[in-house]
Amino acid sequence: MNSRPAKPLLRALAGETMPSPPWWLMRQAGRYLPEYRAVRRQVSDFLALCSNPILAAELTLQPVRRYGMDGAILFSDILMLPYALGQPLAFREGEGPILEPILDASGIGRLDLARAGPRLAPVFEAVNRVAAVLGPQTALIGFAGSPWTVATYMVEGGASRDFQHIKGWCYRDPAGFAALIELLIEGTIMVLTGQIEAGAEVVQLFDSWAGVLPEAGFERWVIGPTARIAAALRLKFHNHPIVGFPRGAGVLYERYAKESGIDAVGLDHSVPADFAVARLRPFATVQGNLDPVLLASGGAALEEAVAAQRRTLGGGPWVFNLGHGVLPETPPENVAILARLLARPGAV
Ligand code: CP3
Repeated sequence: MNSRPAKPLLRALAGETMPSPPWWLMRQAGRYLPEYRAVRRQVSDFLALCSNPILAAELTLQPVRRYGMDGAILFSDILMLPYALGQPLAFREGEGPILEPILDASGIGRLDLARAGPRLAPVFEAVNRVAAVLGPQTALIGFAGSPWTVATYMVEGGASRDFQHIKGWCYRDPAGFAALIELLIEGTIMVLTGQIEAGAEVVQLFDSWAGVLPEAGFERWVIGPTARIAAALRLKFHNHPIVGFPRGAGVLYERYAKESGIDAVGLDHSVPADFAVARLRPFATVQGNLDPVLLASGGAALEEAVAAQRRTLGGGPWVFNLGHGVLPETPPENVAILARLLARPGAV
């Protein structure tokens, strides 16, 4: 039996060194694309977009059609889980997400995992629809937020600068906060299981705020839950690699790569290539990590940075990506230039 995966992204994630790196971009669907803005105008709010399987499937495919990435990431949002658990959520233009904050055990009591199914069903249906039409070279990527990062939005009530409420809760009442994390571990396993069953071949855990915790908290609230999720998925599925993206983790990236049970580690753009090669690659395939501002600004600096990444990260298993999401200001032509640079070194 030959179980070697054929799609380039899956081959790199399985530890193969590829002649040119398979690539996809975090936030590859979104406001920088005119075809995204055209669909976005059809619906009044972002949650309605994420809850419409036909539109979510279309938005997943838009960037892949235009640029031929090796991965198609499901169009959805990490906050679909708190929404499915029953936490009131709205996305306001220019403000980002606004949630009714959960500050204690009574707030946790209002969440209900047993009732999450109907609000997640359209997400799984979108995965199904994409899987049915995706080309044979492109891998379908599912995702969820990590429990810690999702909890930051749930507790702070939206984006935060200093994370005082959630960190205060962790320090004051770790056992009480653990109940929220437990619920999110279960919910995340449910989200990712549903996506894999619907056709996702890879899943990524977005831990955008992993970097705000000191080591003890990082171990308990980032590594521990990630390891639980990875172990649960591994029991259910074979050959479905898990990518973890602990943005901002700094030197703690090494413990994350070693201890969290993931197959690949997503690097933010502050991670030096030599550190990634020496300290992370022994444990996981590396994914990353071009500064999104370089993609937005383009020109010779972009070309040089891609060439430098190829020299430093290209000698082993590597998936090209950005260090964070595509910026809305990015000229769509720059992504086409990037695609050419990745396919043929030196060609623009
Ligand atoms: O990568 C992709 O193309 C798939 C789609 C995707 C979205 N959000 C769509 C989206 C993914 C993978 C996410 C992940 C996500 N969502 C994260 C983790 C990655 C990161 O950026 O750190 C986080 C923290 C969120 C929560 C979230 N969703 C915020 C803070 C915001 C508002 C700020 C912003 O960037 O607009 C969103 C909205 C959102 N999610 C949009 C999109 C395309 C913009 C919605 C619009 O069109 O108005």
